[in-house]
Amino acid sequence: MYLTREEERILAGEEGPSRQLAMKLIVRVGEALGAERLVKVSHVHVSGVSYSNIGDYGLEFIEALAASGRVAVYSTFNPAGFPLGGLEPPYAVPREYVNKQKKIIDTLIRMGFEPSGTCIPYTLREPRLGEHLAWGESSAVAVANTLYGARTNREGGPVALAAALVGRIYLWGLHLDHNRRPTKLVKVGASIRDVLTAGVLGYIVGSSFSGEVPYIEVNPLDKWQVVSLCAAAAASGNTAMCIIKGISPEDQGPPLGVEKVAVDRRDIEAAREEVETASIDEAELFFTGCPHHPEHVVNKILHVLERHGVSRLRRPIWVAIPGSAARSLRRAIAGLRERGVYILPGTCLVVSTLSRAGIKAIATDSVKTAFYMPRRHGIRVALSFLEDFVKKYGV
Ligand code: F3S
Repeated sequence: MYLTREEERILAGEEGPSRQLAMKLIVRVGEALGAERLVKVSHVHVSGVSYSNIGDYGLEFIEALAASGRVAVYSTFNPAGFPLGGLEPPYAVPREYVNKQKKIIDTLIRMGFEPSGTCIPYTLREPRLGEHLAWGESSAVAVANTLYGARTNREGGPVALAAALVGRIYLWGLHLDHNRRPTKLVKVGASIRDVLTAGVLGYIVGSSFSGEVPYIEVNPLDKWQVVSLCAAAAASGNTAMCIIKGISPEDQGPPLGVEKVAVDRRDIEAAREEVETASIDEAELFFTGCPHHPEHVVNKILHVLERHGVSRLRRPIWVAIPGSAARSLRRAIAGLRERGVYILPGTCLVVSTLSRAGIKAIATDSVKTAFYMPRRHGIRVALSFLEDFVKKYGV
């Protein structure tokens, strides 16, 4: 692999052992993939920071890198295994787990990471068209490529951490023009008007065209519908990028000479039935925020409660938001708790200790959550809208 003089210096250990280790890892993986050189990145986002995912081994690796290394570029990290900002989770988390998770987060912050704790890093720093990133959260990767036209592969935790230390990643995969061209044409005949249905469409895209770059012809979608589609596609398949007609900055019109596939209303209904494993009557709580909601969701929830004259919920609503919002929302969070709405900053139920909570079924508007809950926690899932849950369980 060709390395610049500066990259050679880092590899030779002239910027300390942590950067040397990081550069070794990036170069080795890049060489194994056949990359010809490295590229500078402007934002690194690390996933796999939950103690549930990485355990003691991962914690030791992060501590080893932190011993002499600081991030070289703007760097953020994914949600953790329990709420950040000193908030009590509405489910039990063992003390040992809390301590280890805190150590992981503290170490990342010591290395210079933004205290982010979120899977929507594009709301903290908006990616630009054509810029190179090294991101590790599958939904965020798909959003960066699809919605912003930025360039990133889906990097595993250790590689993304290494990229944060040296500010570079191998020039490979979706960093290269020719890998970003659509390979399938998906014509959507059904009307996609909300995040839940957009998620179901994403589920079909991921499970049917995993690893492809689908060109999706669909009615206009808003930002959060695209996010939901990308998250579900990246969960049900290995989808890291779509071109959505009229939305993706790299849209150059429907591709010629590729296979065409039609998705109609019946396909959407069948896919929804496949994903849904419980009814709203069985749901012990409603969860929303996978991917995270931006912090202004708090106002939206207050409006929904007011619109339906609800002062308290008989079954709670849990809402995941970025960890960085914990402090500014402290008062609103406390008020909502009294009404049965639990705002959970900086956490992700999928990588939490939820399987120990004895919950059997939940409702959600996130198809990604519906995909993972039965697999990770043995929890069945109803697909529903928050407003319907409020109407049903509000008093
Ligand atoms: Fe985010 Fe966790 Fe969902 S990282 S996208 S809340 S599975």
